[in-house]
Amino acid sequence: MKVELSIRRFNPETDQRPHVERYQVEVEPSDRLLDALNQVKWYQDGTLTYRRSCAHGICGSDAMLINGVNRLACKVLIRDLGDRITVEPLRGFRVIKDLVVDMEPFFAAYRSVKPYLINDDPVPHVERLQSPEERERFDDTTKCILCAACTTSCPSFWANEEYIGPAAIVNAHRFIFDSRDQGAQERLEVLNSKDGVWRCRTIFNCTDACPRGIEVTRAIQDVKRHLLDVRV
Ligand code: SF4
Ligand code: FES
Repeated sequence: MKVELSIRRFNPETDQRPHVERYQVEVEPSDRLLDALNQVKWYQDGTLTYRRSCAHGICGSDAMLINGVNRLACKVLIRDLGDRITVEPLRGFRVIKDLVVDMEPFFAAYRSVKPYLINDDPVPHVERLQSPEERERFDDTTKCILCAACTTSCPSFWANEEYIGPAAIVNAHRFIFDSRDQGAQERLEVLNSKDGVWRCRTIFNCTDACPRGIEVTRAIQDVKRHLLDVRV
């Protein structure tokens, strides 16, 4: 089938502002959008710039705004998009070129919640054990691939880019509720600040956007409830 891709383009070296370019591409309905973008780049216009790496929904690098919705280009099928497809960069970040945005503010928020195991006890001779029930408590939030689809679909983030955003909260959740971790207090102080979880308005865009099916809004609610239960 033939599809028309309308792609938002911006080259900071030559363009004053972004513009849309259209490409006709021959694809199979079962192809992914990434296949169509590759067709454009490899056979029509080598200047088209976008990020991708694994092509299998695991590295999180090709999240973009596809027909107005945040998705991974390597996961969404052409047959689910129709024959006129719009492709734009994620909202809320500086565009470096075409579909590539500056992810540094996103990763700065991620780093601020200390997304790693903190435990000052002496290193044991065996693994730090936990029960299946304790592991289950944070299972959902281990699935995050840091694609930024959630954070950049959030109106609270668009309104205030200092808001730490859903993805950072998801990754804080992953460790706050890990029975082996001792760093919850440090993370909760960050999440309780003026740009922390309380900026969430429970709009659910983040949950809808997550390509990993993580219940992002629920994780944020978990953290809010926990903040009300503990002293920070
Ligand atoms: S929670 Fe989901 S949408 Fe958000 S960064 Fe992680 S994988 Fe992407
Ligand atoms: S290229 Fe890795 S998630 Fe799409």
